[in-house]
Amino acid sequence: MAIEIHKVTAHIGARVEGVDITPPLDQETSTALREALNAHKALVFDARGLDDAGQQAFVRHFGDITTAHPTVSAVDGAPNVLPVDSEGGGRAANHWHTDVTFVLNPPQATSLRSITVPPYGGETLIASSAAAYRNLPESLRSLADSLWAEHTNDYDYAVPEEEVDEEQSARRAQFTSIKYRTVHPVVRVHPLTGERGLFIGGFAQRIVGLSPGESRKILDLLQAYVTRPENVLRHRWSPDQLVLFDNRITQHYAVDNYDGRPRRLHRVTVAGDVPVGIEGKESYSIEGDASHYTPVAA
Ligand code: SIN
Repeated sequence: MAIEIHKVTAHIGARVEGVDITPPLDQETSTALREALNAHKALVFDARGLDDAGQQAFVRHFGDITTAHPTVSAVDGAPNVLPVDSEGGGRAANHWHTDVTFVLNPPQATSLRSITVPPYGGETLIASSAAAYRNLPESLRSLADSLWAEHTNDYDYAVPEEEVDEEQSARRAQFTSIKYRTVHPVVRVHPLTGERGLFIGGFAQRIVGLSPGESRKILDLLQAYVTRPENVLRHRWSPDQLVLFDNRITQHYAVDNYDGRPRRLHRVTVAGDVPVGIEGKESYSIEGDASHYTPVAA
């Protein structure tokens, strides 16, 4: 059966049919899927029959995989799989972000596999930061081209300070048990397609050379282009689906609109390269070693 790629929106997302991702893929299929990922940035697959081992094997077609997370615990017995669970103290990632951008080489791609889906809500939003960059007026594009931003895991992204209970405080302590600060270009050039995208998201907390207040205003201004409805895929989960997205040129957001009903996804990420800006300069680390978490992709 031939692979069928069905676009879901103009700027981002495609449903993939005609391929069984449970057994190992042949070279031709994995090349076609890599090309589809480059073109559509987020791919939705039927993942019936796929378990944790199968998810990891599938994701390895796109590169070496990372461990689950630099600081957060993995699924029991599966050190490369991160549980994304609304129960057992899990947190909803209801903030716009690109995964793990606080390290020097964030994952190049993220896979999420649905295990339990709530009866309503619980969508994952995925935005094209390439479309956002293209939408910028010329003057803002030139400004963005010249900026670099510091990304860190050491800020209160999940819950306002006054609402933090003991459990959340323990989770935050674990999340920041190693502190990371990395400077990335605000405009990243995709190494495979040459496309430019806004590389910011929630972990970007400061623009190099600007005050926190000035940084916030500029980040908010640019971020508004990323989250334009036209640039966003809203994925409503069915059980046993796998969504693979290009973490180099997207941001995502888990919508917390399911009244705390059970929702569980398993996440496996592909090791990334060090980001490069429009003048060919690479990101640099200020604090925190992530070598236990990820190899560096060539
Ligand atoms: C994540 O950001 O890793 C999880 C996204 C989701 O829960 O939909």
